[in-house]
Order: sequence, then C-alpha cells, then structure tokens
Amino acid sequence: MPVSQPIEPLRIPRHVAIIMDGNGRWAKQRSKPRLYGHKVGVDSVQTIVESASELGVEVLTLYAFSTENWKRPADEVGGLMGLLKTYLQRELSRMLKNRIRLTCIGDIEKLPKDVRDVLQKTITDTAENDKLTLNLALSYGGRAELIRAIRTIATEVSAGDINTDDIDENLIDNHLYTAGLPEPDLLIRTGGEARLSNFLLWQASYAEIYFTDVMWPEFREQAFADAIAEYQGRERRFGRTSAQIKSG
Ligand code: IPE
Ligand code: IPE
Ligand code: MG
Repeated sequence: MPVSQPIEPLRIPRHVAIIMDGNGRWAKQRSKPRLYGHKVGVDSVQTIVESASELGVEVLTLYAFSTENWKRPADEVGGLMGLLKTYLQRELSRMLKNRIRLTCIGDIEKLPKDVRDVLQKTITDTAENDKLTLNLALSYGGRAELIRAIRTIATEVSAGDINTDDIDENLIDNHLYTAGLPEPDLLIRTGGEARLSNFLLWQASYAEIYFTDVMWPEFREQAFADAIAEYQGRERRFGRTSAQIKSG
C-alpha cells in the first residue's frame, strides 16, 4: 500500500466516482446520532471537492443518496435532505469562485420541492463553469437508470426514429444520466464494505476500484491522495496483455 507516494501530475484520473460510506457507523463509534456523521461527512465533501479540483480531476461523482436510501427512517432521510440543501446554499459562492460546475444524476423528481429548487438554481448558476464538474448522484440507482434508458430507446424504436441495429454502446451511453461525461477511471468506496450498491453499474465496467476502511467523515486529502497513488500504480489493460500495453 503506497502511503505517502508522490502523485504523478500527468496520470490524474479524469473522472473519480466515490461511494461515500460509513457516516452512521463513524458516529455510532463516538456515541453520536447518525446525522452527526452525515454532518461531518459534508466537511469531507467540501475537502475532497477542493482536492480534486486542485489535482486537475475533471469530473467528481459523489454518491450522496441512493434509490434504496429512501427506505431509511424518515428523520434520517429528512436530515440528509436538509444537509444537502444547506450545503448547496452555502457552497454556491465558492463554486463560482473556483469555477466548479454542479450537475446531478438520479431521479430528482423524488426530492422535496425546496431541495429540488435549490439544486436547480445551483445547476443553472454554475452551468458555465469550466474547471471541475461536481456531479451529485441523488436518488440514484444504476438499475433505475438502465430501465429509464431502455424505455426511452424502446419508444424511439417503436416510433421508427431508430432501428434496433442502431443500439450500441454509444447509444446507450447517450441515454444514461451521465451522457456527455467521461467514464469513471477510479471508483472509491469508503467505510469498509466491498460492494457497488447499485452505483454506476454500466459506467464502471472498466473503472479501477479502490476500497478503503476509512470512514467517510475521516476521508480527507491524504486518504484521497493515497487512493490516487494506488490508481497510478495499476496497469489498465482493457482486456489486452501487459506486453501489449507496454509496447504501446
Ligand atoms: C453513507 O453513510 C451516507 C449515505 C448512504 C447517505 P451511511 O449512512 O451509509 O453510513 P453507515 O454505512 O451506516 O456507516
Ligand atoms: C451506498 O451506501 C449509497 C450511498 C453512499 C449514497 P449504503 O450504505 O446505502 O449501501 P448499503 O446499503 O450498505 O449497500
Ligand atoms: Mg452505509
């Protein structure tokens, strides 16, 4: 495990996606309510957004709320929605200053109206920013995303707009929430679990996956740098052999 290995500036992943997990357990270990873990987790979000931007990452996708997370107790869901709203309101000026563009993926129609309004305003106000794209996965599920894409494609086929032969990887990419974004190069999950939990099922096909036991509220610059250093040490073969990769 590279601990303090220097980061090579030329091999920064273009798109980093993070499953921010472990807030509740982290709080429990400190005899605090789960929401306290989520609150401190927002500070990690702010730190990692800044770090990613400084390193030259183009897209940072953060899994903030899954389609399955609606099953949590109402007070926790409400608390998370409140944190999201205040985060967006608080960060707008910093996003404008640091040229951060906010986008989101997921079924945002399910979010409470006041949260949706703030989200929509932040997306509009930051639309022209050209440094980091901060892409929030909200009420997001990879399966729901695929169902939505398949339904739209099926409608286009039955309307005669496209033929079934036109269905290829590109067409599917273009019907996902992530249309227009590069594929994730590095997918990080904090909090010690080793699963995808319905995140970017199609897009992560060739992402380098990095699991860490660090809980999200403690995942800060050094932990992020360690993940990137590990990514830089991996050989991405995309089905080829190592010799093929080395000979370019
Ligand atoms: C991740 O932390 C945040 C969300 C899923 C919203 P958890 O709340 O899942 O924390 P643990 O996994 O219970 O520790
Ligand atoms: C995944 O974490 C979702 C987010 C981080 C938003 P969960 O804590 O919900 O995942 P499971 O339920 O343990 O798989
Ligand atoms: Mg969890």
